[in-house]
Amino acid sequence: MNLIPNKEPDRQFYFMDQLVPMIRREAERAGRPLTYYIQTFGCQMNAKDSEKLAGILETIGYTEGKDENSDFVIYNTCTVRENANTRVYGRIGYLGTLKAKNPFMKIALCGCMMQEALVVEKIKKSYHFVDIVFGTHNIFRLAELIYEKMNSSKKQLIEIWDGTKEIVEDLPSSMKFDFKAGINITYGCDNFCTFCIVPYVRGREKSRKPEDIVKEAEHLAARGVVEIMLLGQNVNSYGKGLEEPCSFAQLLQKVCRVEGIKRIRFMTPHPKDFSDDVIEVMKNEPKICRHVHLPVQSGSTSLLKRMNRHYTKEQYLTLVEKIKRELPEVSLTTDIIVGFPGETESDFLDTVDVVKKCGFDSSFTFIYSKRSGTPAAKFPDEVPEDVVKDRFDRLLAVCKEESEKAAEKLTGKTVEVLVEGLDEGNTGMLTGRLSNNLLVHFEGEEKLIGHLINVRLDECKGFYYIGSVAQ
Ligand code: SAH
Ligand code: SF4
Ligand code: F3S
Repeated sequence: MNLIPNKEPDRQFYFMDQLVPMIRREAERAGRPLTYYIQTFGCQMNAKDSEKLAGILETIGYTEGKDENSDFVIYNTCTVRENANTRVYGRIGYLGTLKAKNPFMKIALCGCMMQEALVVEKIKKSYHFVDIVFGTHNIFRLAELIYEKMNSSKKQLIEIWDGTKEIVEDLPSSMKFDFKAGINITYGCDNFCTFCIVPYVRGREKSRKPEDIVKEAEHLAARGVVEIMLLGQNVNSYGKGLEEPCSFAQLLQKVCRVEGIKRIRFMTPHPKDFSDDVIEVMKNEPKICRHVHLPVQSGSTSLLKRMNRHYTKEQYLTLVEKIKRELPEVSLTTDIIVGFPGETESDFLDTVDVVKKCGFDSSFTFIYSKRSGTPAAKFPDEVPEDVVKDRFDRLLAVCKEESEKAAEKLTGKTVEVLVEGLDEGNTGMLTGRLSNNLLVHFEGEEKLIGHLINVRLDECKGFYYIGSVAQ
């Protein structure tokens, strides 16, 4: 009789049960508890996946380690730009030297880079010491993969899926913070912006059922979470393919009704899908944070067309105007790519114009990186490196000026912040996050961490504030 369940997630719970005594025996042989360490590269989607991986490792008996000197190390990779890949390769070699010194060490690589055949070939050829390689579609199978690797003589176990229709959930998850958490609402992306690798490595867009999302929010609230972020590559196209239709605006309303959840964020909306009903819901629901991250990518209509973004410069500007009019306290942030193939000086000046007109609170600027397999990789007229560099520096200066102007607006005001922890700069101060996503550092007791409190914003330091707890 075969006892292994076919159904997920039961199957993975079965393997976790099998692994518990196996890992316990290893720890006994090592004479110490075994530790794990997950290094996450890339976006919030990857960060969320890492929490799921951590949940599985903790369930089978690993405790969290503080760096790569741990017994189970996972690199959860990103491939959105070439430099993301370079950073990973640089560090895999280092893992090999650590493994040579630790006979209990296991190394796994996963995430978006692993969905590229050339990357996997390179790992097979040059990094024999990596134990397990898996991709974005099968992360829920970590327990089974570990079990399989521990029971086989294979030096390296590689399992990459091209895609999946299955959304496997309800597996353990270890949260990085006790008071805020992400919730996936969609997986994958169908937009195929011509520069972007994400649709190829994350697969087709799939929406989770609203009732599952609400259930997860309720569950998190019961654990003490007060702020949630709804995650997806294009959150406002939410709902495609659901049996019972539900729009992104309707989903926001449902989540707002979850008691205990005091703040709701979402990342990332696409300008082409930012419909009036979402603005309306934001207006009426104070729980929804006053922050819209609205990647523009370029200000040039002709470049936007070649990027396959489905909006013009004017449509973007009109949308921003509407958002600012309806939600006056909103903070607006963006992503911009410089040096897309064929970008002329006049295209670039359109981008600068958009930055000035929108007055972004913060802009993430990227130099275009050619990703093989994407349509843009074959586009002619690559922009010479020195021209790109020059434009990038000029853009950065304009963005900085605009964000400083925007931040100053709140100086002197008292606002509600979620206290997230100690200031990373080691000043002994606390750090709080405003509804609009800006940070404020202030003196206060550690017991405030995880709570919403009022803070006066005394001084603006460019992109953050120094404040004091309001009495
Ligand atoms: N889904 C989100 C963003 C995903 S990737 C969206 O549609 O906005 C995050 C950012 O990386 C993008 O907004 C884009 O600015 C940048 N990016 C993606 N591909 C890139 C590439 N090939 N070169 C440079 N930047 C890129
Ligand atoms: Fe990439 Fe465009 Fe999808 Fe964003 S919307 S993930 S930029 S293809
Ligand atoms: Fe990177 Fe994958 Fe996110 S490529 S940006 S980690 S979806």
